[in-house]
Amino acid sequence: MSLPLILINLKTYKEGMGPRAHAIATAAQQVAQESGATIGVAPNYIDLHPLSKHFMIPVYAQHVDGSAPGAHTGQVTAEAIRMAGATGSLINHSERRLTLADIETSVRALQAQKLVSVICSNNEITSAAAAALAPDYVAIEPPELIGSGVSVSKANPEIIRRSVAAVHDVSPNVKVLTGAGIQSGECVRIAVDLGTDGVLLASSVVKADDPKAVLRDLVSKI
Ligand code: G3P
Repeated sequence: MSLPLILINLKTYKEGMGPRAHAIATAAQQVAQESGATIGVAPNYIDLHPLSKHFMIPVYAQHVDGSAPGAHTGQVTAEAIRMAGATGSLINHSERRLTLADIETSVRALQAQKLVSVICSNNEITSAAAAALAPDYVAIEPPELIGSGVSVSKANPEIIRRSVAAVHDVSPNVKVLTGAGIQSGECVRIAVDLGTDGVLLASSVVKADDPKAVLRDLVSKI
């Protein structure tokens, strides 16, 4: 069985861009190498290409537009993120919601480029709907806990359990992540024990004085 994915969304935190994005990716790669865990980062678009080229860890976009290449000013296509070296992309993050039709178009665009798709969802019903679109991952994140410092693993383990069941009822092949307030190895352990394939997190690593120490703790119980 493969180890869980720990995916760090750098969002647009000032502590997660430019040199600091590079420092977090350096720490993630080092902790991944010493632990054997899979640790990925999702930087903003400006940092996507340099991080993808410089590091061996998976690098994800935070959003992708489903448009084909052509006359679409201001959009970022799946082809562009593949050419930048990305592994895949988040879709429909709580801070970047899309319509259902847009989500499907984005998943298909990523699949056409052989990139990994991670659809974010907010509860078990939307998780089931997301699973019906056949992405690689559905990432369940209760919005009220995002950035709160309160871990979904501890505050609402039932939503994780129900979402894993809802996704696997639709398709056992779709993997599940959970996120919101994840901050320790214990949070990761609980999430995995509830049936997920990993976690999606941000502030506990990005805003930490010592991201490497937090990353070491995150992988300590897997
Ligand atoms: O994408 C991850 C995110 O929404 C969770 O944020 O800060 O609660 O780990 P945070």
